[in-house]
Amino acid sequence: MSFPKNFLWGGATAANQCEGAWKTGGKGESCADHMTAGCRQSPRRITRTIEAGVNYPSHEAINFYHHYEEDIALFAEMGFKVYRMSINWTRIYPQGDESTPNPEGLEFYRRVFEECHKHGIEPLVTLSHYEMPFALAERYGGWTNRQCIDFFLNYCRTVFTEYRDLVRYWLTFNEINILANSFGGYMGGGILPEADSLMFGALEESQAVRSARFQALHHQFVASAKAVILAHEINPDNQVGCMIAGSACYPLTCRPEDLLAAQKRMQMGNYFCGDVQVRGEYPHFARRFFQENGIEIHQEKEDATLLKQGHVDFYSFSYYMSSCASSDPEHAQSAGNMMSGVRNPYLQTSDWGWQIDPEGLRWYLNEIYGRYHIPLMVVENGLGAVDKISEDGKIHDPYRIAYLREHIQQMQQALEDGVDLIGYTPWGCIDLVSASTGEMEKRYGFIYVDKNNEGQGTLKRIKKDSFDWYKKVIATQGEDLD
Ligand code: BG6
Repeated sequence: MSFPKNFLWGGATAANQCEGAWKTGGKGESCADHMTAGCRQSPRRITRTIEAGVNYPSHEAINFYHHYEEDIALFAEMGFKVYRMSINWTRIYPQGDESTPNPEGLEFYRRVFEECHKHGIEPLVTLSHYEMPFALAERYGGWTNRQCIDFFLNYCRTVFTEYRDLVRYWLTFNEINILANSFGGYMGGGILPEADSLMFGALEESQAVRSARFQALHHQFVASAKAVILAHEINPDNQVGCMIAGSACYPLTCRPEDLLAAQKRMQMGNYFCGDVQVRGEYPHFARRFFQENGIEIHQEKEDATLLKQGHVDFYSFSYYMSSCASSDPEHAQSAGNMMSGVRNPYLQTSDWGWQIDPEGLRWYLNEIYGRYHIPLMVVENGLGAVDKISEDGKIHDPYRIAYLREHIQQMQQALEDGVDLIGYTPWGCIDLVSASTGEMEKRYGFIYVDKNNEGQGTLKRIKKDSFDWYKKVIATQGEDLD
C-alpha cells in the first residue's frame, strides 16, 4: 500500500532552535535563551542571568529569522506539503503577561506563513515548544501558577485570530509529557531551579517539587483544552493536536515482573498525558501513582468539564527510539530522548546512544491507534549524527537515509495494518541546535548549515544527499525509497 494522496509529507523545526535573532523585533527572553551550549559529556547549564562570553546557542541558532525565504524555498524544492514550526511566544508577548501583542512579532510570522503558502506548504504550528517567556518563569513560577493559563490563552487568541486564514493545523504543547519527568520542569514548565543548575541536574526532587511539577502539568492540560475549544470557536476548520514524546518500551525478558515494569513505563511515559488530552480524563492508574509519590494537585471545579470538551482532534508524537524495562536494577541504562531505559541487545544505537528501532514505530503506531482511534501524525523522527563535508564539497549521509527509509517502511506497514496515519515531519529538516545538548553538530537535517558547536560558521546552507533522496520519496509517495 502506498501513502494516501493527501498524506502530509514535510519536516519540523522549533523557533528557539532555529530562529536566532533573540533580541530582534521586540522579542523578549524565553527559557531557552537562558540555556548554555553543552555536549553529551557536559550538560547544558540553566543560568538566571545571561553570562558574558558564554555561548547560548538559541541567540543566533541558524538565523532562520533572516533566512526564512531561502529555507522555505529549499523545503518547497523537496516537495514539502507541510512545515511544522513553532511560534516563539516571546515574539508576540515578550514578557508573557502584556495585554497587547508586539506588532513586529505578529508581522514576522505573517510573512513566514505567507511564504509557506506561496510554495503550497501548509504550516503546522506548535504554540509552545520549550519557549515559555522567561519573565513568567521568574515572576510567576512558570506553569505552577494557574495564572499562566490565562496568559497562554491570551496569546492563543491573538495568534488564532491573526492567522485565521493562514494556519489550520496547531499543536498545543510540544512533548507535554516531559513534565511527567523530573528533568522536565524547566524546559517544559518554566519552573526555575533554585540556583543555576545543570539541565538534567534535578533528578532527585523533593515531594513538594514533584507535586509542583504535576500541578504545572495539570495547568497545561487545562490550558491545552481551553486552547482547543478556542481554536474551534475562532475557526471551525482548525485541527488541533496534542504532542507527546513517544517512547516504545518493551519488557527486557518475559519475566512477568519485567512485563509489569514495561507496562508502567508505557503508562507514565505515554498514556498518562495521551489519555487526558485525547479522552479528556486522567487514567485509572493516576490515583495510585499520585498516592505512592506523595503528589497532590489542585483542580478547579470546571477542570473536569474543560478537559472533556477540549479533547484534541489528532494525536501527534515524536519518535526516535525505544527502550526496555527490567525489574532488575542491575541492568545497563541507555541514553535517549526523554525516557532512557534499559539497553536492548538487539538494537544499534546512534552516536548519542539512542537505540534505533524502526519496528518499534510500527508497534507504537498500532498501540496508540488501538487505544484512541483518532488520526496520528509523526511530527518528529530522525537521526542526530555528525556530518562531514567531503572533498567533493558534498555531504554524503547514507546513515541518515537508511534510518529514515526504515522508519518510512514501518509507517507503510502500519498503514497496511489499518492505522490512520496522516503525516510525517522528520525532525530538524534543516540542521539546528540540539535541544538536549545545545550542540550544532548533532545534525538531523536534509540541509546542512555551516556552523559548529562553538557558534562559528558562515551559516551557508548546503543540500545533503538525503535532500535529493527525500525529494524522491515525496514525489513518489513513498514508492521509491532507494
Ligand atoms: C524532541 C524535541 O525531544 O527531540 C526537539 O521536541 C529536539 O526540540 C528533538 O530537538 C531531538 O532532540 P535533540 O536533543 O537531539 O535535539
